[in-house]
Amino acid sequence: MKPRIFVTRALPSPIMLELKRLFDAKWNHRDQPLSRQELCAGVGKAEGLIAMLNDPIDAAVIDAAPKLRIIANYAVGYNNIDLVAAGGRGIDVTNTPGVLTEATADLTWALILACARRIPEGINLVRSGKWKGWHPEQLLGMELRGKTLGLFGAGRIGQAVGARAVPFGLRVLYASRSPKLRFEEETGAVRAGTGRLLQESDILSLHVPVTPETRGMINSDTLAVMKAGAILVNTARGELVREDAVVLALETNRLGAAGFDVYADEPTIHPRLLVAPRTVLLPHIGSATRDTRRRMAATAIANVQYVLHGEPPVTPVYR
Ligand code: DGY
Repeated sequence: MKPRIFVTRALPSPIMLELKRLFDAKWNHRDQPLSRQELCAGVGKAEGLIAMLNDPIDAAVIDAAPKLRIIANYAVGYNNIDLVAAGGRGIDVTNTPGVLTEATADLTWALILACARRIPEGINLVRSGKWKGWHPEQLLGMELRGKTLGLFGAGRIGQAVGARAVPFGLRVLYASRSPKLRFEEETGAVRAGTGRLLQESDILSLHVPVTPETRGMINSDTLAVMKAGAILVNTARGELVREDAVVLALETNRLGAAGFDVYADEPTIHPRLLVAPRTVLLPHIGSATRDTRRRMAATAIANVQYVLHGEPPVTPVYR
């Protein structure tokens, strides 16, 4: 008999076919996230769960699944999962690291370039029909060559963002718990403390997970230390940023621009952020390329298969 798994959101049909071939797969047939009650009901008899990053897999959901052996998150971040509750039950938790690094680094650069060169303002001007032609002072932006890119976090994605800075001629600073010597050799990046990173970065990009130490790390205090006119980019997690403080920093022209792909309370966006000047706001599409999503699915499937066949998972969250 095939092991029962539950998938919280239908994935592209070739993936669902593969899941049906391998498992007794049940899934959410509606094109929207499940409520907690529906999640609990869905996962009830499952041995494996494939979850999305916007499914809160908390103690209640885990308690509702007495047979559960693996939670395979379809994301690299896993702050939606209660690791204490899962670990306490001996449930494996896995994510999809590596396979989405390049896609997320590319999107980070899309935000950096869009902020630096005021791309949304340009698009709006042209579309509005108000463009009166070339003007010597129209939409002047930030030149990248010679500026400093600060990376908060230099894991896979942070390093991939840093590597892309080299051909653009940026100096790279990074803050990280441990030195990344190969990254330094390859890019000339320099490790710095938080204070120096904030003070010297023309562009600050966030690449750390949400922990009690990092939650709200970009707030009125840290924004006050940043260079006037700097660009803040976040493709990691919205909870790293106090959005009210960012709104104020944009409104008072302290912050040059903000490029966000993630928000503290997705899909709700701080109403003043939506109308704040000089923002580029995307709907959490860091990993959204067809190739990356295929690889994320393959990773999640491999993890479920391994664990349900008694093998250790390929990409465990607990080490
Ligand atoms: C993830 O998978 O955790 C990221 O949010 C990709 O954008």
